[in-house]
Amino acid sequence: MSAARTPTIKSRLPNVGTTIFTVMSALATECRAVNLGQGFPDFDCDPKLVDAVTQAMREGLNQYPPMAGVPALREATAAKIEALYGHRYDPGSEITITAGATQAILTAILCCVHPGDEVIVLEPCYDSYAPNIELAGGTVVRVPLTPRTFRPDFDAIAAAMSPRTRAIIVNSPHNPSATVWTRAEMLKLAALLVPTEVLLISDEVYEHMVYDGVQHVSASSIPELAARSFVVSSFGKTFHVTGWKVGTVAAPAALTAEFRKVHQFNVFTVNTPMQHGLARYLADPAPYLNLPEFYERKRDLFLEGLAQTRLKPLRTAGTYFQCVDYSAVSSLPEAEFCQWLTREVGVAAIPLSAFYEGGFEQGIARLCFAKKDETLREALSRLARL
Ligand SMILES: Cc1ncc(COP(=O)(O)O)c(C=O)c1O
Repeated sequence: MSAARTPTIKSRLPNVGTTIFTVMSALATECRAVNLGQGFPDFDCDPKLVDAVTQAMREGLNQYPPMAGVPALREATAAKIEALYGHRYDPGSEITITAGATQAILTAILCCVHPGDEVIVLEPCYDSYAPNIELAGGTVVRVPLTPRTFRPDFDAIAAAMSPRTRAIIVNSPHNPSATVWTRAEMLKLAALLVPTEVLLISDEVYEHMVYDGVQHVSASSIPELAARSFVVSSFGKTFHVTGWKVGTVAAPAALTAEFRKVHQFNVFTVNTPMQHGLARYLADPAPYLNLPEFYERKRDLFLEGLAQTRLKPLRTAGTYFQCVDYSAVSSLPEAEFCQWLTREVGVAAIPLSAFYEGGFEQGIARLCFAKKDETLREALSRLARL
């Protein structure tokens, strides 16, 4: 018998390597930097939510739930969407509970994208989109958002559309730029898509983080878009429990039926006690209705401190990210600047170029303010030295 040997495999994702997020987090730990690179809270969730999940476990709700999700959570999600955005999804046939938004987006893509289909993404964009499209055998068509303002360029989107375009992925409120699409922009998108067979994957994981009275415009609130959309959200973001990985997809019955075919043989079901706990917790809308106020205060605390530095903040209309223009401080490329900032100043940030294929330099870094006030203050006192 020959020596034990692991057969080689041809990579399905040959271009995926170590991401800048992993690199920056490792560097932050090594340098004992305040990590404002990580896109998640360093504070705990509401103890009532933990109690609700614990109670569900104690009640013995620990076995497989229905494939599409616990009915009470689907019903609560449908009611929430209807109350906020005015569109009634049928919890039985149009709402599915997923293992976070990441799985929701992958499953949405896998259920509708065939080899040779094109999917439009608007750069800068969340890092899972392109590999997801590639896994489905699709072609990623990248359209830049307008540099620095990050508004959608509808002429460029229209020019990128072809008879092979199967879907477009839109993310508002937007990671990393912290912009929020206006109703006029969503209506323009609708006008562009209506004459076509193009589906919309609407990544709305930051739907409850919008500031200064700005309203989130969900694809579900525009009937022409709702009819062709997978609307994705994440309880992890909304309730400060990113590690729980529970999300939702709302989509018309015909789209949901195809979605569930893939979901069934991918994750099958999402953990039961979390779903029951979330369903009970959702009975009170205050936690998500108060979220803008909660994060707006943190954003403003952070902005006040940034005003004492040579970093120039861009406007944050939504999400828990704050982009800063560092051109008054350094002419380094973004990735090098962020590494320098982590090593020399002790604050970790993420280069915006990481959200573009092949990079794109604008002298902008992304900082996350979903942190305890004391964490933000410590970071600000370090940044003030710049
Ligand atoms: C734009 C965007 N979409 C999706 C996700 C993933 O959400 P989840 O943790 O629910 O999978 C994130 C998380 O950072 C995100 O920023």
